[in-house]
Order: sequence, then structure tokens, then C-alpha cells
Amino acid sequence: MDNAAREDQEATPTGALAEALVAALAVGRELTTGTVADYIPELARVNPDNFALAACTVDGDQESVGDAAVEFTLQSLSKPFVYARALQRKGVEAVHQRVGVEPTGDPFDSIIRLDAAKRPHNPMVNAGALAVTSLLIDEGAEGSAQRGAAMVDLFSAFAGRSLSGIDESVYQSERATGHRNRAIAHLLNNFQILAAPVEDALDLYFQQCSVRVTAPDLAVMAATLAAGGWNPVTGRRVLEPHRVPPVLTLMFICGLYDDSGRFALEVGLPAKSGVSGGILAVVPGRMGLAAYAPRLDEHGNSVRGLAALRHLSATLALHTFACPASSQGE
Ligand code: DON
Repeated sequence: MDNAAREDQEATPTGALAEALVAALAVGRELTTGTVADYIPELARVNPDNFALAACTVDGDQESVGDAAVEFTLQSLSKPFVYARALQRKGVEAVHQRVGVEPTGDPFDSIIRLDAAKRPHNPMVNAGALAVTSLLIDEGAEGSAQRGAAMVDLFSAFAGRSLSGIDESVYQSERATGHRNRAIAHLLNNFQILAAPVEDALDLYFQQCSVRVTAPDLAVMAATLAAGGWNPVTGRRVLEPHRVPPVLTLMFICGLYDDSGRFALEVGLPAKSGVSGGILAVVPGRMGLAAYAPRLDEHGNSVRGLAALRHLSATLALHTFACPASSQGE
């Protein structure tokens, strides 16, 4: 981010940020409802009490509280970054020939409904994500392991460190039991929406979902989007700036599945959740936020994570549409 843009942004002092994270952790800890995802059997082997919050500002200042060293898999948190990569590699037209931009109001794993242009509705639900992932497969150029390694590199660039890689047991667990995603992928194949063979698309999707991160990694990934595609920790450009607005827009309207509207109303930030219990949220021009707590609500979103982000948005005045006091005549 250049100096003028940095001066324009409303800075949150790191002391205030650390205090807000501590307070949000306390709020979240009060909640013990929800259940850990077990439809991918390996996901159930987790401590349900894990809880971490993290933030990274666009200046690269990082704060975290709770179980910040605990790794978990990206799951659907991978989707905005893979969408971003597809936009960068293939361009907006090629991507949106295969996937739309409208919320579904349906659960993330709905058996597909296609829009009027015969595409899955958006890249944040499984059907749309599978279509987007298929665009990253250069048939015949690489095998499964190389494609998986390229995914790890992609997420590492956003996270600002070499991530520890793919959780082999989660990957194999979803490969063995992901019948619903197989059904969705075969339907997509039937409608000629996939850009690669169906098994290759599924394999790469299962790999991207199985990459291990911590809450501080997620916060840096979110901060890279907040800084317009520039990683504030490494100083490296990861995404062209004009690719960021579509990614944030789709996160805002579709990032929390059939709870996206309520989240947009209450928290007011572009965000994405995953069934491992992570949620990342982007405060454009200011910071990335992350929460990790594996117990999920009925929509598949982290109960504690939602409460913590609601608290952070309120205490740090982060809602996208909140008008500053000066514009309210105060
Ligand atoms: O496709 C699946 O079922 C998982 N690998 C990811 C789903 C997910 O994270 C949805 N998030 N709330």
C-alpha cells in the first residue's frame, strides 16, 4: 500500500487491537454450543475447545490470542484464494463462463441448481468452487502431487510463510468419503461445466481443502486481501489489485453460505468460513482478522468465531457501512 493510501486509512493502534482480541476471546469462550464437523471423519479428531483469534494490519503488525499455534485445515477457506488465482490466470470472462456471482441462500454442499446461464451460482459454494478449481488444472502438464504443491505455494504466498503442507489424513478421509462432492462434480461434468477431467478436479479440490494453517496465517491471508493483494508481511505482491474487489464482493455476499446475509448485517465485513472452524474477515485498507474454534452452528460456521467477530466489529467500529461520527453531525 502506498503512503497516501496508508495515511487515508483509519489506523487501529496495535494496543487497542490486542485488547479487543482479548475481550473477543472472553466473549467467545462463554459459548459451548455447536458441534464439530464429522462428515469428513478425520475432522472429528480435534479438540473442540481449541480457540484462537488473530489480526494482521496492512502495515504488517500482528496480534494473536488463544491457541494460535494450533494448525487446522483450510476447507472452504481455500475458496476465495483459488477463485482469486483463477481470475489472475484465466481472466474474469473465462472464470465467469463457468460460475456465476449470485448468492444461493442454500447450504454450501447443495446438489447443484444452475443459474439462467447454466452455471453454479457462485465460487463460494462447493459446486462453484469445483468449477473454479478445474480451471487451474493444466491437463497433462502436472500430476496430482505437483498440483497439490502448487496449491500449498499459492496459500503460502498469501500467508507470508511456507505453510506446513497438506494434511494427508484429512485429504484421504475426504477422498474416501466425499460422495456428495463426487455427485456434484459428476453433475457439473454432465453439464460440461468442468474445465478438466472430473477426478482431477475432485482430487485438487480435496487437496486445497486439506492445506494446514493457523489462525495467524489466516489473518495474514486476509490482510493481503485488505492491502489490495500485497502481502504486508513479506512485502510481495500476490494478487493484482484489480482482482481484489471481485473476491471481496463474493466473500461479502456469499462467504458464510446461507448465513451470509445475517453476517453482512451484523458484522459487515467480507468473510469466509470453513468446516474446520476457521473464519477470516477482511477490513479493506486496514487489516485481516481470523478466528478458529471448531464447534459449528447449523450453517457450518464456527459459533465462537462468529461471536468473536461480531464483538470485534462492534468494538473497533469495523462495519463496512458504518458512517464515521463526523458524517453524522456529531
Ligand atoms: O467440500 C467440503 O465438504 C469440504 N471440504 C469443505 C466444506 C466447507 O468448509 C464448508 N464450510 N463451511
